[in-house]
Amino acid sequence: MRVLVIGSGAREHALALALSRDPGVTAVLAAPGNPGIANVAELFPVDAASAGSVVALATEQKADLVVIGPEVPLVLGVADAVRAAGIPCFGPSAAAARIEGSKAFAKDVMAAAGVRTAHSEVVDSPATIDEALDRFGPTWVVKDDGLAAGKGVVVTTDRDAARDHAVEILENGHPVLLESFLDGPEVSLFCLVDGETVVPLLPAQDHKRVGEGDTGPNTGGMGAYTPLPWLPEGSVEQIVSEVVEPVAAEMVRRGCGFSGLLYAGLAMGAEGPAVVEFNCRFGDPETQAVLALLESPLGEVLNAVA
Ligand code: GLY
Repeated sequence: MRVLVIGSGAREHALALALSRDPGVTAVLAAPGNPGIANVAELFPVDAASAGSVVALATEQKADLVVIGPEVPLVLGVADAVRAAGIPCFGPSAAAARIEGSKAFAKDVMAAAGVRTAHSEVVDSPATIDEALDRFGPTWVVKDDGLAAGKGVVVTTDRDAARDHAVEILENGHPVLLESFLDGPEVSLFCLVDGETVVPLLPAQDHKRVGEGDTGPNTGGMGAYTPLPWLPEGSVEQIVSEVVEPVAAEMVRRGCGFSGLLYAGLAMGAEGPAVVEFNCRFGDPETQAVLALLESPLGEVLNAVA
């Protein structure tokens, strides 16, 4: 099986490395890739977000499977275009990728599925920021209701910092999502999902703040580890049955069933797991830790989902 990996990050390097270890994978190709990926794959200088270019490359290179790493091409419908060309693709449709692309859509799905998550409000005008902030915090959680790769989130006990971030998001033309703060250690659970079928991988934890001792602004993730020795037994089963399966079923009910990697970011509070965010792709950096311990052949697994 010839597998084409789309993306250029450490996540795609981890995917390409794990694919290269699968005896059923005869060639790993990557676009655009990076110098680390070049050690295990042939690189092609193709724009990951261009559906036409990705389809042309996959066709020309006779790819048997395309694996899309980042969220931007997924939200833009690159997986739809690859499938429409008759090539199996690991990654959700644009309609399903809204679970990450629009936090308001994700909240709506969770409400319908009865999944515990933070209380939230969308603010779309500077005139209503102050009264909305008064209904939250401290601690304030201020998010960009769009794709921000984890960097659009400010978690702070400083009301002025929360307000400044909200104003900046609005000035960039995006709505602001204010959320109640969820207490408890965070878990990233990656699930292979195809419609209502859900298969979890090992739970991981990433660390998002830029500074030592969990200080400074949030990033997409500074580092990650798995397994989680502190996580009570049965937690993964609980997250799957209380969170991921109901959300997968709700998406099928809405006609936008998810096929690919559904990433549930959760806070493990006293009342059980509550969703911080969903992502429509493998997490970065958690993928580096999770795939290092995966014993199953990755190509076979991703192809089965596709
Ligand atoms: N590690 C956070 C993310 O992948 O969004």
